[in-house]
Amino acid sequence: MPRVPDFGARAARYDELRPADASWWELFELLIREGDLRGRRILEVGCGTGQLAAALAERAGARVWALDAEPAMVEQARTRLSTVKVGRAESLPFRDGWFERVVLRLAVHLLDRTHALPELRRVLGSGGRAVIATFDPTHFGGFWLAQLFPGLEAIDRARFPLPRALEGELRAAGFAATRVVRLSQRHELSREEALARIRGRHISTFDLLDEDELRAGTERAERELPDPVAVRLEWAVVIARAWRPRLAVEQSAVRWQELPRVAAVRAASYSRPDTYPFKPVQRGREGVRMTTHAPAPTIPVAP
Ligand SMILES: C[S@@+](CC[C@H](N)C(=O)[O-])C[C@H]1O[C@@H](n2cnc3c(N)ncnc32)[C@H](O)[C@@H]1O
Repeated sequence: MPRVPDFGARAARYDELRPADASWWELFELLIREGDLRGRRILEVGCGTGQLAAALAERAGARVWALDAEPAMVEQARTRLSTVKVGRAESLPFRDGWFERVVLRLAVHLLDRTHALPELRRVLGSGGRAVIATFDPTHFGGFWLAQLFPGLEAIDRARFPLPRALEGELRAAGFAATRVVRLSQRHELSREEALARIRGRHISTFDLLDEDELRAGTERAERELPDPVAVRLEWAVVIARAWRPRLAVEQSAVRWQELPRVAAVRAASYSRPDTYPFKPVQRGREGVRMTTHAPAPTIPVAP
């Protein structure tokens, strides 16, 4: 039978074995900055115990909903945030266009992306962004567990998407523009912390290794791990916009007759940032034009 990661078994000790340390907060700040998350209406998909969702609400003034497929994780997350649901990324229990941002941290490699990525796009309103933190391929070879558990690198390389491939999948799912921001981190763990993580099987890749390799790697760690243990993390944050930014040349090609109307609609849109009202630019014989939607979309009152 194929092995599958068991997040239910990890829920109770997840925060103890994967705490929000200085590296965690550094990535948090990058997500806020690059994803423009401050004060936004956000959905976190694959929220685990809700560390990130709660921090976004408490430290970034965001209105946050969160979702995870594993009930034991959701139970933990609900101790931090009331707006957490059990559900799957592939079929999100939220209305079209409800969110300004969708955030995923170490979850995208676990999803059926053919179904999940269009769902992320569906729940984003115009102007929305998906902000996806995952490991860069440069991460796996230098990860501190790779020497102890030789099968681990190949397993993770196979299940984490390449950032470039993920960008392509996001565009195929209806996102208009994507970019990748990388973050390289170095920190140390005490030998005792490192051993506790191995014994507690703190990452789901352990569930995919065979028993002999698990036993041999754990014994070797007990014999050989130095104090402290050097840890290197290589992140790729993929940001996908639900709309295509207009090029300067397109903006300058708005016909002069339309300028008063365009200015009026644009002024209205500034007062309602959720409802950017321009249709995509139309190309025709007359050159490039810009038109507007008829009424602005209705904003639902609850997800
Ligand atoms: C590695 S944990 C990451 C948790 C949290 N985002 C973090 O950064 O600590 C991955 C989480 O994704 C959840 N998950 C896996 N497949 C999922 C799916 N199809 N839909 C929603 N959540 C899923 C798991 O239950 C688990 O809690």
